[in-house]
Amino acid sequence: MAEMKLGLFIRPTGHHIASWRHPNAHDDANANFSRFVEMAHTAERGLFDMLFSADTPSAWTTLGSALNRQHYSAWLEPYTLLSALATQTKNIGLICTKSTSFDPPYTVARQFATLDLVSGGRSGVNIVTTGNGRAALNYSQEDHKPKSERYAIADEFVDVIRGLWNSWDADAFIRNKETGTFFDFNKMHVLNHKGKYFQVEGPLNVPRSPQGRPIIVQAGASEKGRELAAKSADVIFTATQSLKMAQEFYADVKSRLSKYGRHNSDLKILPGLSVTVAKTQAEAQNKFQELQDLIHPDHGLAYLSRRVGHDFTKMDPDLVVPNLEAVEEVGTRSGQMLDLAREKNWTLRQLYQHFAATRGHMVLIGTPENVVDTMQEWFESNACDGFNLIPSLFPDEFDAFVNMVVPELQSRSIFRTKYEGTTLRELLGVQSP
Ligand SMILES: Cc1cc2nc3c(=O)[nH]c(=O)nc-3n(C[C@H](O)[C@H](O)[C@H](O)COP(=O)(O)O)c2cc1C
Repeated sequence: MAEMKLGLFIRPTGHHIASWRHPNAHDDANANFSRFVEMAHTAERGLFDMLFSADTPSAWTTLGSALNRQHYSAWLEPYTLLSALATQTKNIGLICTKSTSFDPPYTVARQFATLDLVSGGRSGVNIVTTGNGRAALNYSQEDHKPKSERYAIADEFVDVIRGLWNSWDADAFIRNKETGTFFDFNKMHVLNHKGKYFQVEGPLNVPRSPQGRPIIVQAGASEKGRELAAKSADVIFTATQSLKMAQEFYADVKSRLSKYGRHNSDLKILPGLSVTVAKTQAEAQNKFQELQDLIHPDHGLAYLSRRVGHDFTKMDPDLVVPNLEAVEEVGTRSGQMLDLAREKNWTLRQLYQHFAATRGHMVLIGTPENVVDTMQEWFESNACDGFNLIPSLFPDEFDAFVNMVVPELQSRSIFRTKYEGTTLRELLGVQSP
């Protein structure tokens, strides 16, 4: 029977914007490595496929005066963090975000080939064009490039890193002490890339890594994002709110694979999922509401403004969400959130509460059986190949998932009961290049 794939999306005290105010949150997690070691160990206990960290190279100053209410405005740089976690873990994949707008492809190819060697074949990179335009100001640029150009750059960026990862054949390093020849020139490949945005000679100065090519993840859901994923990604992270939406997305992205000579199973689609689980529905609901009540209205309104792309910060949170156009530049979720507010006739407070908990991802609140019923339905009806778990609160909600939901998934034979394979590519079951 097919088994679903599970990723853990890490974030200091959890994905709920008020998580750090919860009595059980480790509120020092943004500066304390040991908290992440604990998360990684719990994830391996739960037999997760991978840890995933998002990243934006800026402090989210777009939150304005509410910036000081956010727990992840400043925290550990994810690549360094995952490199350290590689030494504290054995099986789990290690994926973090790099920006095609700000990071040079040679550097990224080199870093992830090295992480793959350090971790024994467990590295992966989430390629993003970076939505937060303020990041440009940290890289000697005045403005973020328009989205369509950012995606054109991303496309070429991925070609370059893939090319660089082919710099060495697996048996290039003969290390012949007698002849004094360390490697075979015929097994070294110089890229000589001369493109519109990048000129990269190569070869990469890192040997071929255990996976050959580290895993590539893509997380944009627009037309250009889908095409980029179909062409080059092994995993796509998405945010979807309904089964129908997820099924449409799944069918659309998978249908694009054949033109690149790829099979359906070569790209895993993992929607984000937030789970609040307890022995009874009422207990789960209370836990969820406890976090919602901790959101400061200034923070809620600022957060919503940034995500939707309209300024709500001076408005009364109890007003109905005004009728506004989606802002394409901030991404697919702007329109999704506005549509939802219109459909439900929500106030700004209702929308930010909903958004704070979900960020446009699916939310399940209930008993292990209820939660798994929905996960199984999605998995078995071509809506996804698994999920990227976004726990609202660390450590509590992630512990609860591993203790209650994982055994339920296993008892229905839709999740592994032990790790098999050594590389992330093997865990995910995506073909080697
Ligand atoms: C699960 C998930 C993780 C993401 N991680 C990042 C990230 O780390 N950094 C970033 O700048 N954008 C991140 N994004 C945003 C996307 O990369 C993309 O920029 C956004 O969805 C807008 O593009 P689109 O219109 O193609 O969807 C993430 C999106 C999702 C769904």
